[in-house]
Amino acid sequence: MPHQPLALKYRPGTFGDVISQEHVTRTLRNALDQNRVAHAVLFAGPRGSGKTTTARILAKALNCEAGVSGEPCGECENCRTIAAGRSLDVIEIDAASNRGIDDIKELRETVKYAPAQGRYKVYIVDEVHQLSKDAFNAFLKTLEEPPRNVVFVLATTEPHKILPTILSRCQRFDFRPIPLKAIRERLAWIAEREGIRLGEQAAWAIAKKADGSMRDALSLLDQVVAFGGGDVDLATLRGLVGMPDEERYLELTGLLADGNAGGALAFARDLRASGYDLEEFYAGFLEHLRSCLLAAVGSEELLEDVPERLREAYREAAARLGAEDLLRMLTLATDEEGTFRRSSQQALVLEVLLVRLALLDRAVDVEAALAALGGGGGSAPAGRSPSPRSASRSERSAKGTPGSGDARAAALTVPSGPFTLEALLEGWDEVVEAVHRSRPTVAALLRGARPAVCSAEEVVLAVPPEAEFRMEQLHQRGTLDPLAAVLNQRWRFAGKIRVTGSTSEETRAAPARSRPNGRDLAEREMQARLEGDPLLRRVVDLFDARVVRVQGSSPAQP
Ligand SMILES: Nc1ncnc2c1ncn2[C@@H]1O[C@H](COP(=O)(O)OP(=O)(O)OP(=O)(O)O)[C@@H](O)[C@H]1O
Ligand SMILES: [Mg+2]
Ligand SMILES: [Zn+2]
Repeated sequence: MPHQPLALKYRPGTFGDVISQEHVTRTLRNALDQNRVAHAVLFAGPRGSGKTTTARILAKALNCEAGVSGEPCGECENCRTIAAGRSLDVIEIDAASNRGIDDIKELRETVKYAPAQGRYKVYIVDEVHQLSKDAFNAFLKTLEEPPRNVVFVLATTEPHKILPTILSRCQRFDFRPIPLKAIRERLAWIAEREGIRLGEQAAWAIAKKADGSMRDALSLLDQVVAFGGGDVDLATLRGLVGMPDEERYLELTGLLADGNAGGALAFARDLRASGYDLEEFYAGFLEHLRSCLLAAVGSEELLEDVPERLREAYREAAARLGAEDLLRMLTLATDEEGTFRRSSQQALVLEVLLVRLALLDRAVDVEAALAALGGGGGSAPAGRSPSPRSASRSERSAKGTPGSGDARAAALTVPSGPFTLEALLEGWDEVVEAVHRSRPTVAALLRGARPAVCSAEEVVLAVPPEAEFRMEQLHQRGTLDPLAAVLNQRWRFAGKIRVTGSTSEETRAAPARSRPNGRDLAEREMQARLEGDPLLRRVVDLFDARVVRVQGSSPAQP
């Protein structure tokens, strides 16, 4: 007996057997029960999702000898001839072929004849969006005066291409792509009946590749069985369809996380040598990065279709790379996708991309790096030079000078004369440095400011106009407390501190530039942050990094 394709053998014969389209089948059953089926229905949806199948079930239900009801019996003569595609009353027209257009012209003639065997003539017009304009018009006439006992089922994968005049005359049903999980379960169910040993991973991989089409899933299963026999595992699958499995992607993200550009290049070469379909690979890679990102941002519900073992692997990759890097990788890979697809040198484009990804500036969690270097952001780390800008990297790093207790003491030992503007201006760098010991971020803000007024009651700090955003930060409650504390220690100052825009010499001396945009400001803020924070500077040097983001500083510390 010749082998019957699985997609045909397991074509659902009843509405109850159609998976994942309950919203369609329920409505049709109700309409049948109440004998109120529309004269024309439109089945729209992706390929292999059950449109033709459902149309045939509808035809059976309308003509079943057991009477019109929500579910055909499947046993009677009418049900059987329709299922076998031999019924004279069910006319299938493929609008995609030339023949389809002639069919439509003929249709206007034949449509008036009564059904031969059953109650209804059912015309199933597949790919109806492909009808030529003439055929459309001819068809429209028929739809306008629908003969009794005729039901039209129009099926299409591209409903947007159908003329509104036709759409408005149809009851529309939208079929959905079949969810991965449903495909997987159906595959497992069929495999069991067929005596095929289908591994969980393989079922998942097939379902994934089928991309919402049950037909594609079953054809693929057919192919794999023909190729590898009754045992279907990932290796057989890979050998057949050149589909890279998740292990490969995980290997790749591992290389990227290590910044191993050579490894990434070798990976790309190997991919090509072993005959992978590169487009396939690219699409899967994007999907993979997305899955890792989902795991990284904790949206794991979205990964519910994924086998647990893989989910664990995503979590690991997510932990290694972090959401920020994953996002940047995904962005780069998505941006390059068009170039890749259009290129006549896809292998080359892919190689370059993988190397770029491996060399992508890593977003380093500075807090963590600082901690690893032995100094928290808040406490004074060992070895900080009093004048960080002039200190060399090695000076700052290795040799330990006393810890934070001494740093506080140092602030007190500075000689304090009368509290005048001159004194404050002169001592400003040291004041800022003292603030730095407890609050580096505040110090970075203060560094751009200059004392403009100084009295026992009030200190006014002037901020250059382009640093207005900083001023806002300075205004935030508590931000100036560390400064107040230092001023109090030194000069017993107990007044108010205010911040204002600057009209000082310095700022006027600077040539009038065009108003800086947000990006410039942010860059400058980063720079200020770097200058104000030798340890951050060191981290940046160490990693040869660029600061991509500074997390908002927390309000005043206790
Ligand atoms: N919802 C479903 N439930 C169960 N099996 C399905 C379903 N959809 C499709 N299949 C399987 O896929 C095969 C093809 O389905 P069908 O011909 O109905 O797809 P279609 O939506 O008409 O696709 P196309 O747009 O390519 O014509 C069926 O014979 C059946 O084996
Ligand atoms: Mg079809
Ligand atoms: Zn029947």
